[in-house]
Amino acid sequence: MITVHTNIGTRNLAGTDVTILEMLEKEHIYVESHCRQGYCGACRVKVQGDVEYTTEPLGFCRKGEVLACCSKPKSNLEIDVRNV
Ligand code: FES
Repeated sequence: MITVHTNIGTRNLAGTDVTILEMLEKEHIYVESHCRQGYCGACRVKVQGDVEYTTEPLGFCRKGEVLACCSKPKSNLEIDVRNV
């Protein structure tokens, strides 16, 4: 289960075999993005849980953040996209 906290509430999503960014976009949850290849860091989201990267991330992330464009859920996740 993927729990997403947004500025307008909390949503539960089923995990799929797509990147976190694609999963959020499919649900019409806005996350900023630019390169979509792990370089720019624009798609950083706060995450609790395990993810796996589909490509080596080169963009900057703080502890507890991942690059949504190149990561997939590896466990249940809590994603916080509030105030992004
Ligand atoms: S959109 Fe550039 S790192 Fe994800």
